[in-house]
Amino acid sequence: MTFAIFYEYMYILGIETSCDETAISVVRAEGEIGAPSFDVLGSAIQSQIDIHKEYGGVFPALAKREHLKNLPIVYDEALQRAGIKESEIDMIAVTVGPGLEPALWTGINFAGELGKRCGKPVIPTNHMIGHIASVLLNKQVPFPAIALLISGGHTELVLLNSWTDRRKLGETQDDAVGEAFDKVARMLGLPYPGGPEISKLAREARAKDVSLEKKLPRPMTNSGDFNFSFSGLKTAVLYYLKANPEADKVAVAREFEDSVIETLLTKTKKALNEYRPQSLVIGGGVIANTTLRESFVKLKESYPELNIFIPEKDLTTDNATMIAMAGYLEFLKDKTKIPDKLEACGYLEI
Ligand code: KG4
Ligand code: ZN
Repeated sequence: MTFAIFYEYMYILGIETSCDETAISVVRAEGEIGAPSFDVLGSAIQSQIDIHKEYGGVFPALAKREHLKNLPIVYDEALQRAGIKESEIDMIAVTVGPGLEPALWTGINFAGELGKRCGKPVIPTNHMIGHIASVLLNKQVPFPAIALLISGGHTELVLLNSWTDRRKLGETQDDAVGEAFDKVARMLGLPYPGGPEISKLAREARAKDVSLEKKLPRPMTNSGDFNFSFSGLKTAVLYYLKANPEADKVAVAREFEDSVIETLLTKTKKALNEYRPQSLVIGGGVIANTTLRESFVKLKESYPELNIFIPEKDLTTDNATMIAMAGYLEFLKDKTKIPDKLEACGYLEI
C-alpha cells in the first residue's frame, strides 16, 4: 500500500497485545527521523495480571481470550479520552513481535480490520523498538546511543547510530532479567509479576539494614562480551534457599536485586567505554525498579557528558504509546513502503 506522504502531523493509533496488557493509545506525531515529536492524546489499558497470577505467569490461551474481550472496550475508551473519531485516525501501528503469538494475532487482526474499515495503513511494529522509543515523549535522543533493554522476555544491549541503523551487541544466553525476577519471586512464595514484589522486600531490607551473609554470583561480568546470563543466578538462589530454609526473604531479595543491578551496570559501562555514545536509553519493564533507576541515573557522575534517557514510570512496562511512537519511526524509514500483509512473530529481531 502506498500512502500520502505530505502531512503536517498525523494521528497514530498504537495497539499492543504481545503479552498480558491490552493497550491502545492515540498519539499525535510530527517531524522527520532526526527530530520526531509526539503528544499523547489519550490512551487506555486493561491489565490481565490478576487473571494470570493464579498460574504464576502468563497463560497464552487465556491472554488471547482476554485480549479479544478487551480490545473493543479499550479502543472505545482510548478514542474517547483522545477526543477523536475513528475517521480521524491517519495510521495504525500494531505490535507484530516479539511476544506470545496467540496474543499478538488478536492485536494484528483488530488492526487489520480497523485499517480496512477506515482505509488507513497499518504499520507492523517491533515491541522492543517500542521499549526504546518509550523515552521519546518530549525528548530528542542524540546519536550514537546505547540502548539497554530489560523486560520479561528480553535482555539486550543495542547500538543505535540513528533510529533506523541498529545493531545488537549482546543478549541473554538464557533467562531474561525480568524472568529471573519472576522466578526468584516464585521461589520466595511471592505472586506474579515478581519484579515489584522483590523490589518491595529489597527496599525493606535496606531500610532495616539486613543483608545476606552470602554473596550471590554476578554472572558473566568477566566474559569480555556484551552477553548476559541469569539462569545461574536464579539457581544460586534456589540452592541457597534449599540449604537455608529459614533464610530471611528480605535479605535474599536484596542480594538478588543487588546482583542484577551490578551485572547490568557492569555490562552497560563496558558498552559505554567501548562505543563512547552520546546517549544511553533504558527501556523495558524492569526499569520500573526504583533502585535500578537510581543506580543508572548515578552513572552521570562517572559519565558527565552522557545523556541518560529513562522512560516515565507508566511507559516502562508494556503500553501502546510506545508502539505508536515506534510505528511512526518505522513509517519514517520509508514512507512509501507499507506491507499489505502482517504476520505475528514470536522472536522478531531488532
Ligand atoms: O516490558 P514488560 O512490561 O513486558 C515484557 O515485554 O516482558 O516487562 C515485564 C517484566 C516482568 O518480568 C516484571 O517482573 C518486571 O518487568 N518488572 C520489574 C519491576 N516491575 C516490573 N522488575 C523489577 N522491579 C520492578 N519494579
Ligand atoms: Zn515489553
